Amino acid sequence: MCGIIGYIGPKKASQVILSGLQKVEYRGYDSAGMAVFDGSKVSVIKDAGKLGAIHAKHDFLKLEGGIGLGHTRWATHGLPCERNAHPHADCSGKVAVVHNGIIENHRALKEEMVKKGHHFSSDTDTEIVAHLVEQGMNDGRSAEAAVRAAVARLDGAYALGILIAGTNALYLARRHAPLIIGQGKAGEMFFSSDIPALLEYTRDFILLNEGDVARIDPRGAIVWGADGHEAKRETLHVDWTPQMAAKGGYEHFMLKEILEQPAALSSAVSADVSAALPILRASKQLALVACGTSYYAGLVFQYLMHRQGKPCAAYIGSEYSSWTTGQEDVLIAVSQSGETADTLGAVRLAKEKGAKIIAITNVVGSTLSREADVTLFIGVGPEVGVVATKSFTGQLCVLCKLAYTLGANKQGLADLKQIPSLSAKILEGKHADIQKLAKAFIKRRDFFFIARGINYPCALEAALKLKEITYLHAEAYPGGELKHGPLSMLEKGVPVIALAPAGPLAPKMESNIKECKAREAELVVLSDDEAMRAEGARSLLMPTVPPELVPLYYILPLQLLAYHMTVLADKDPDQPRNLAKSVTVE
Ligand code: M6R
Repeated sequence: MCGIIGYIGPKKASQVILSGLQKVEYRGYDSAGMAVFDGSKVSVIKDAGKLGAIHAKHDFLKLEGGIGLGHTRWATHGLPCERNAHPHADCSGKVAVVHNGIIENHRALKEEMVKKGHHFSSDTDTEIVAHLVEQGMNDGRSAEAAVRAAVARLDGAYALGILIAGTNALYLARRHAPLIIGQGKAGEMFFSSDIPALLEYTRDFILLNEGDVARIDPRGAIVWGADGHEAKRETLHVDWTPQMAAKGGYEHFMLKEILEQPAALSSAVSADVSAALPILRASKQLALVACGTSYYAGLVFQYLMHRQGKPCAAYIGSEYSSWTTGQEDVLIAVSQSGETADTLGAVRLAKEKGAKIIAITNVVGSTLSREADVTLFIGVGPEVGVVATKSFTGQLCVLCKLAYTLGANKQGLADLKQIPSLSAKILEGKHADIQKLAKAFIKRRDFFFIARGINYPCALEAALKLKEITYLHAEAYPGGELKHGPLSMLEKGVPVIALAPAGPLAPKMESNIKECKAREAELVVLSDDEAMRAEGARSLLMPTVPPELVPLYYILPLQLLAYHMTVLADKDPDQPRNLAKSVTVE
């Protein structure tokens, strides 16, 4: 979950690394650091806290030199503090290491290194790598051989960047964690956990495979595969621009990403889904796997496919191994980042059992896209805010298109074409009302979202949005479930946000709304039916939209609600506490 970046070339490394770290900070932001080699020594600056505060306190730019690496951390082993921040050094201070992942056998390796006289300065699993490399060189190995020998001893997941004084090179290793090499102008090379970190400098990347070790220097890159032999790796030119990954005048990425949905969804609805159709048509047992927001998009697909008579059970990534029957011959994996460890774990399990994998992701070159048999890209551009917004609606567009194409549903496909213009109308038309609602609710502590049928995943997603950035208590229930327990939580003034479009489920939703009102809850009803809307004092009149697209349209004002409540509470919507954008640990 940590962000890493490295640079070698004629520029001032600290400048390049700092700007790269600012772009990968969404991966983790409890501490950060940088190491730069100035031709004679490796200097390290690191501390706990957010990158901006650390830079203001220590000034990363005082580090001179053209070779360096940096890290922004989401703590796994050891508290977020200066000592545990990366980069980690060996005893001599000549080796500096940044790492994303978990070294599972670090304890045994540490005992061995301690016996050999190594002194450890942190509580992390990462530091062992610096000492293993140091030990290799003490034993007479070249820097390159020492790195390869050290990596060969590691169990677990890692994207590693290693700087060794005097080598004029950086060393990399990748296993179950994202790591790419960037090819800059002549004489400069980069590495990073994320493409957006490097867009300012290059759009040309080399994709490392599982188990690769690599060396980059001003002449280029050498990669060794898991078998130890030198290997050629796939290159990738991306069409994302640096502007797409920038705030573009908005106060927060989250607001930018919510408001750019009409344009982003115009690209998502034109996604080419044809490559997945033959596999889906031939499938006997279909399942879907995803986490968080992507799982909620998957639940909508579950409803669609059920209605089409081709059931597709949706599983949470980390639960898949407990539920799989091993019978599914096609697994659809949905992941914005394409790097979520729980989703990748399920994919690998299904592959072992012989299933074909269809990936739905936003990130070209991501691990998921490279491990899948077929990949459909949602094409909504880089999503930098930790909370998923445009990726959710983008996933819905592609999943609906897949279901409608499979079911030859001409009306459904026509409905998708209206998404860019209608979503723009909703975002513009409801923004002011939502700001008022956010002000009215800012002192409330508990929120309930209710919906029925295909709209229930939208209620789940709305509750997730609210809780993950405001830290308030929010829960979502199918309307009919309230009376089976949660109704006891309702009392005067507790907000209940009901998604209640006109349609066959409306009468039952109306009963559920009345049950809440009878407990003096404060109802906000989102509906296209004026009478239903009138059930709540602060309700929103929504346009009438195709029933299966209600989740896509109704989430828009609720994303805005979560955003404005967070800003009013003076919290950071882009970097919520304890979270990170791409969850690369199980
Ligand atoms: O990159 P993915 O779509 O695989 O990520 C899955 C979840 O971690 C992600 O959706 C998470 O729930 C978001 N923070 C939700 O806003």
